[in-house]
Amino acid sequence: MDSKAAFSFINTLLLKKTREGLNECEQDVILGIWEGKTYQEISEEKVRDFQYVKETGPKLFKKIEGVLGIKVSKTTFKPTIEQFWQEQQSVEQASCLSNVRVEVEQASCLSNVRVEEVVRSHPDSPTVSDDRLITHPFLPLSGIVDDPELFFDRNSETREIFTLLNSGSSVALIGERAIGKSSLLKAICREAPTQLHSLRQPIYLNLQGLKNEDEFYTALCDEVGIPKCRGYSLTRELKRHRLLLAIDELEKMTWEGFTQEVRAQLRGLAEGTNAPLRLILAARDPLDSLFQDSHALGMTSPLAGICYQVDLGPWDEATIRAFIAYRLQFPRLQPLAVPVRFTEEEILHLIAASGGHPQKLMQLCYQTYQWIIDN
Ligand SMILES: Nc1ncnc2c1ncn2[C@@H]1O[C@H](COP(=O)(O)OP(=O)(O)O)[C@@H](O)[C@H]1O
Ligand SMILES: [Mg+2]
Repeated sequence: MDSKAAFSFINTLLLKKTREGLNECEQDVILGIWEGKTYQEISEEKVRDFQYVKETGPKLFKKIEGVLGIKVSKTTFKPTIEQFWQEQQSVEQASCLSNVRVEVEQASCLSNVRVEEVVRSHPDSPTVSDDRLITHPFLPLSGIVDDPELFFDRNSETREIFTLLNSGSSVALIGERAIGKSSLLKAICREAPTQLHSLRQPIYLNLQGLKNEDEFYTALCDEVGIPKCRGYSLTRELKRHRLLLAIDELEKMTWEGFTQEVRAQLRGLAEGTNAPLRLILAARDPLDSLFQDSHALGMTSPLAGICYQVDLGPWDEATIRAFIAYRLQFPRLQPLAVPVRFTEEEILHLIAASGGHPQKLMQLCYQTYQWIIDN
């Protein structure tokens, strides 16, 4: 959702409820906040009085809260509106899907050709113009979800992570295998330019592809764009940089080839509010239990000491339902794909069998969808 779509979404809702749309200054404030701008920047760019722009923001938030019943502030504006938009979509899709289901059910007593015609001519069928069509609504079945449109939810964790990062803390994202850690790390890197209060260059490093700490330093320096170095030279080089360093598969640092030194250096570079590094680390186990060598030396793990732990758990029932509804009406689904609706019984089974684990849910939904269209 870009800033213009966000403005039009909010404006339409307010217009529907109050018969009054937003004014130009409110429009500029929404577009600006969405693009991560400060009130100062918005006022300069739009040649508006700074004080007026600054007062318009909080008034607008109050209006949104009063009319739409959702609490927003400058920092929570974007994720909250995005989440609200998704909820609205799910509701609309659910009602639209039941209409489509009735149409298809009625048509199924006719020939297959006829069914296809009904589907094709349905006004809500996706259009062919999108060149990034997908062949199945429940993909990918494994690996990082790095396409923003395929990445679902994780709004509260994203908010919590940015609050922590903006307060000067580093973050350890802990969760079981395939719960969505890597996908969330990528999303955090994507959103960093608009969500971090002070600008940091996001860098994503997956330790899975790196043999030892020498390769780690090489990869880090390559990404930052500085000559390969480590130790004091690295500290000196990084003084001029402000980075958000996302390290995935951190457990690899417990393997041979990685010493405690690299963790101590990362800690040194990430300590303090204006430090060169702010870290977000993904691992299956809490850092303290991951790095047992520090305990042997009578110390706490250097990274555990500076990272606040955020646990990544399964989706709750409401999120599972929203995910299913959203994917069944996915706009980029092949235009000729037959619209499918999962029955309440199927949904209850998917909730119970997946336990809200995103990958299990994806795989089970994949099978359910396939079974429906094959039968
Ligand atoms: N937010 C999400 N949106 C959509 N699918 C997800 C999400 N999180 C996880 N998945 C599903 O789980 C799979 C594994 O996700 P991944 O991020 O690689 O997990 P982890 O890094 O924890 O092992 C993805 O391929 C996808 O099927
Ligand atoms: Mg991963």
